[in-house]
Amino acid sequence: MASNYQAPRGTFDILPAAGHARRRIEATASQVFARAGYEPIATPIFEDTELFERGVGRSTDIVRKEMFSFEDKGGRGITLRPEGTAPICRAYLEHGMHKLAQPVKLSYGGPFFRHERPQAGRFRQFHQLGVEAIGTDSPLADAEAIMLLSDLLGELGVPGVELRLGSLGSPAARSAYLEELKAHLRAHEAELSKDVRERIEINPLRAFDADDEGTQGVMASAPTLVERLDGDDADHFAEVRGLLEAAGVAYAVAPTLVRGLDYYTRTIFSFVCPELGAQSEVGGGGRYDGLIEQLGGPPTPAIGWATGVERVLLALGEQDEAASRDAFLAVADPGQRKRALALVSELRNAGLSAELDLAERSLKGQLKHADRIGAARVLILEADGTAQLRDMRSGEQRPVEAGALIEAIGGERG
Ligand code: HAM
Repeated sequence: MASNYQAPRGTFDILPAAGHARRRIEATASQVFARAGYEPIATPIFEDTELFERGVGRSTDIVRKEMFSFEDKGGRGITLRPEGTAPICRAYLEHGMHKLAQPVKLSYGGPFFRHERPQAGRFRQFHQLGVEAIGTDSPLADAEAIMLLSDLLGELGVPGVELRLGSLGSPAARSAYLEELKAHLRAHEAELSKDVRERIEINPLRAFDADDEGTQGVMASAPTLVERLDGDDADHFAEVRGLLEAAGVAYAVAPTLVRGLDYYTRTIFSFVCPELGAQSEVGGGGRYDGLIEQLGGPPTPAIGWATGVERVLLALGEQDEAASRDAFLAVADPGQRKRALALVSELRNAGLSAELDLAERSLKGQLKHADRIGAARVLILEADGTAQLRDMRSGEQRPVEAGALIEAIGGERG
């Protein structure tokens, strides 16, 4: 019975069988966040377009090509949030959180929107879970944030995860480095691909990702930003590394690691599952010491990350799963329906999962339905007020006392 409509390109419906694994991921993340003191925050799904232009950066692919932007009925430029960090910094300033004890540690989750070309692991509406620690430049905050994502992925059981770590230094160090890199590229122009050659001035870092042999040869001898870090930037990076080592978090320094958002400074990191292929990053983030100032606030260093729920699901190879119920309440006689409704509520209040027939089926139909929805046991309420407990796996049936129904079901759960 196909309708005339389909979910828009790059989006998907989360059907019940796939919803269970997502709930588990969200519940695990909530626990991990709460245990580490990252308090929940939620910001609107849409924001003023300018927030992302200023925050994420006008030269990024996200702002140039991927935002779902529109004018609202009041003529305001609005954008469906492509990421969560700029909105959280906006909220931090709007609610005077800089007056609270620092750092302010926040956690969030929800849908995000980017108009990208859809492929495995890449969607136009996707879901992130993330944290931000705002108001400290201590390397301890970097190490703690990275450790938190490592712990979350570990607790979720994501296999084969590798941590790549880099540092972009301060904006001044970065621009000095970019000049040096451009000079290196210009000196080897003839060996570069046309694409890379045309982008020397706009985005020289892209050359590190090129897949042609000529460019790769040139890049093998190119200077890297990590080698050029000095002074406080170098010390900061060394401290982050030392702390991660002390905490037993394995990483590889990725001297050419770059990220798709302009606000990063110093530490950046990426958790990848190489097995996922092209979209192998399950989560990543970094420090953004200049963003809050950029948005009109006081200088406020901060760090955070986000993980993509769909990527985590892919990495877990999560199968759809059927729900199971502790019990189904069937009535042998329609006169027992009121009692069934009261009982189902009692069972649920006792923490058990229980359902009753909402379609007024015959007893045979109810048993069939109970089987279909995966009920472990059926409690059959007889016309004379007695009850029978039927084990759906063995087919055994035995009478239970009216006063002992909950214990009978709860006690046999498992
Ligand atoms: P991001 O790297 O753009 O960072 O996104 C974080 C994660 O979201 C990625 O590692 C990936 O798993 C997932 N993701 C991104 N785009 C898509 C997509 N189109 N489809 C499916 N999954 C996707 C940020 O968004 C930063 N706000 C992270 C951050 C927080 N940095 C500091 N604080």
